[in-house]
Amino acid sequence: MTPPVLRTELLAEAGGELLEGPCWDAGRARLLVVDILRSERVTYDWGTGDVSRGSGGDMPSAWIPRRGGGSVVATRAAILLLDGDGAVERSIPFEADRPENRANDARCDPRGRLWAGTMALEEKEPTGALYRLDGGPPERVIGDATISNGLGWSPDARRMYYIDSPTRRVDVLDYDLDAGVPRDRRALADVSAFDGVPDGLAVDAEGGVWVAFFDGGAVRRFSPGGEHVATIALPAARPTSCAFAGPGLDRLVITTARAPDRTGGDLYVCDPGVRGLAVSAYAG
Ligand code: BGC
Ligand code: CA
Repeated sequence: MTPPVLRTELLAEAGGELLEGPCWDAGRARLLVVDILRSERVTYDWGTGDVSRGSGGDMPSAWIPRRGGGSVVATRAAILLLDGDGAVERSIPFEADRPENRANDARCDPRGRLWAGTMALEEKEPTGALYRLDGGPPERVIGDATISNGLGWSPDARRMYYIDSPTRRVDVLDYDLDAGVPRDRRALADVSAFDGVPDGLAVDAEGGVWVAFFDGGAVRRFSPGGEHVATIALPAARPTSCAFAGPGLDRLVITTARAPDRTGGDLYVCDPGVRGLAVSAYAG
């Protein structure tokens, strides 16, 4: 059976270049987004629909609330801990010795550890890695990544999902939540038959995994068993990531990048018919 195709609509024109890392900030009823290539942080106010942009540090790739207030931003050579007013409280070196790399997708596990990946600016060599931040300096956990991308956890947190885009796979690992250790990486789904490469992802409350296909003009939902079960078609060629948003976490917001065909750079939204998992804030 062909999976159903869900409709999407424009949420906001953002005029972005490489919008990424969407994250719902429940405390302030807003969506946090970054524009990596413009080095900006972008917020979408859920109540008013206003989009605001501000300087985001050097190539910010993800922006996530902190548990005690404030937020954390992954940038090219530093993880920045911001206070509630957006001022930098602390800057933690992040591959500062690897100028050929930059940060990419990051998310927190349900205990509030930050997982952040890196990638080669040229997007060709596997010089990137995936790191865990658990209070101390970043610890390298998975190496040899070319474009470290989508991250998420199953509703019971016993599985972690991970994408290195050029592999054209969505991978799954067993996850020890107490220790913060993933093991036994294997493919959940080989997605090489679809157009584009898998990019960011979001997990819903039923364990479905929604994956953005960069250059594929779609977000696809996979069951916990890896079966393709739904498609969101987009009028933009380069969706980069998605996140559940809104007070009920029942809308899926999709970030896009400006493509050579001039589509993208805006925010889209879809009613996926399922709620998302609560967003984990950074405990540090
Ligand atoms: C990166 C882009 C890359 C895309 C597709 C994104 O997460 O930020 O630079 O082109 O993934 O792999
Ligand atoms: Ca991404």
